[in-house]
Amino acid sequence: MDQIVISGTGVFTPEESITNKELVKAYNTYADIYNSTNKSDISQGNKVALELSSEEFIYKASGIKNRYVMDKTGILDPNIMHPILKKRSNAEPSILAEMSVKAAKKAMESAGKTSSDIDAVITACSNLERAYPAISIEVQELLGIKGFAFDMNVACSSATFAIQAAADMIRSGSAKTILIVDPEICSGHLDFKDRDCHFIFGDVCTAMILENKETANSNNSFEILSTKCVTQFSNNIRNNSGFLNNAKKSTPLDRDLLFMQEGRKVFKEVVPMVSQLITDHIKEEKINVENIKRLWLHQANKSMNDFIGKKVLGRVPEDHEQPNILQDYANTSSAGSIIAFSFYSKDMKSDEIGVLCSFGAGYSAGSIILKKIS
Ligand code: COA
Repeated sequence: MDQIVISGTGVFTPEESITNKELVKAYNTYADIYNSTNKSDISQGNKVALELSSEEFIYKASGIKNRYVMDKTGILDPNIMHPILKKRSNAEPSILAEMSVKAAKKAMESAGKTSSDIDAVITACSNLERAYPAISIEVQELLGIKGFAFDMNVACSSATFAIQAAADMIRSGSAKTILIVDPEICSGHLDFKDRDCHFIFGDVCTAMILENKETANSNNSFEILSTKCVTQFSNNIRNNSGFLNNAKKSTPLDRDLLFMQEGRKVFKEVVPMVSQLITDHIKEEKINVENIKRLWLHQANKSMNDFIGKKVLGRVPEDHEQPNILQDYANTSSAGSIIAFSFYSKDMKSDEIGVLCSFGAGYSAGSIILKKIS
C-alpha cells in the first residue's frame, strides 16, 4: 500500500491577543452595566443578576491563560462584546481565505513545495464564512493551484477527518499532493456575554501538506500509519446558525445562533469515548502503548487531556509527551491538535510514533497514528 505522509505544517497566529485579566475585566464591566441598568427588574425577580467572572476560575477550570483574536477592540468593549470585522467587497479576499493563505505558505515552505506541486485543497473548519463559493476554491485561486478544492465541516474534528479524506484520496489516485487549511475564527461564534463560556475560544489558522512518501523531501515528515474516525450524535455542543435562520424567523441576536454547550456533560462523555478510541486504534494496529512517544490531543481543556493521556498511557504523561498549547491559544477548535503537532514534533527521532487526536461537537473524534520518517 502507498505510504502517505504529512510533509509540512504551518500556523498563522493573529497579531492581537487577550489575556484572562483583560477578558474578565471587560465581562465584569458588562455585567455591572447590565445589573445596574436592570436593577428594578432584578429586584422584582423579573431578571436574574449576572454573576462576575474570575481569572482564577478560568485557569483552574480550563488551563487557558490567553487567546489570539482577529479583533480585540470589539470583544473588549463592554458595549459591543464581539469581534468587529470589516465587511469586504466580493473583489477582496475573504478573511478565512486570507488567513488560510498565510498558514498555507508556511506549510508549503516547510514541505518544500510550490503551488504547482499541489493538486487539491481542502478547507476543514468549524465555521465557514459563507455558503458558497467554497473558501477552498478561493484559497486555490489565491495560491494559483490547479486541480480541485472543497470545504468540509466536522467541527473540532474537521482537521483530522480531512487528513483521513486526503490520505484516502492520495491512495486512490484522485490527487497527488493535498493542502489542508483549518481557518478558525472561533471568536465569531462565541457569546462573550455568557460567563460560562466567554473564555473558551481563540482564533488561528493551521495548514498541512499531505503527499506520497516517494515525492516528499522535507526534513520533518510523518507517515500516516493509520486513521480512525468516529461520530456519535449529541446535542451537548450545538450551534443553530444556518441558512434557514431567516425562514425560521430567528433574529441575529438569538442565543442559539452561537456556540452553546453543556460543558460538564461533554467532559464526562467525551473523555471515555476518546480514551477508548485511541486505545482501540493502537491495539488494532498492533502497536505497543510503550512505543507511543507523543500525544497531540485536541486542545479544549487541560484536565480533559490529563485524563485522556493517563488513561491511554496507563500512567501520568510527562509534559513533553503530551504538549499543551491551550495556555497561549485557548480552544481553537479543529486547529488545536495541529498547532500542538506543528510546534512539538520536530524533536522526534526517526521511527518514533505519536497519535494526533481531535474531539468535539457531533460528537466527533479522529485518531491519526503517525511515524516520524525524516
Ligand atoms: N467565572 C467564575 N465562575 C464561573 C465561571 C466564570 N467565568 N463560569 C462558571 N462559573 C461557575 C459556575 O457558575 C459554577 O458555579 P456553582 O458551582 O456555584 O454552580 C462553577 O463555576 C462550576 O461551573 P461548571 O460549568 O460546572 O465548570 P466546569 O468545571 O465544568 O468547567 C468548562 C467549565 C467549560 C471549562 C468545562 O466543563 C469543560 O471544558 N468541558 C469540556 C468542554 C469541551 O471540551 N467542549 C468542546 C468544545 S469544542
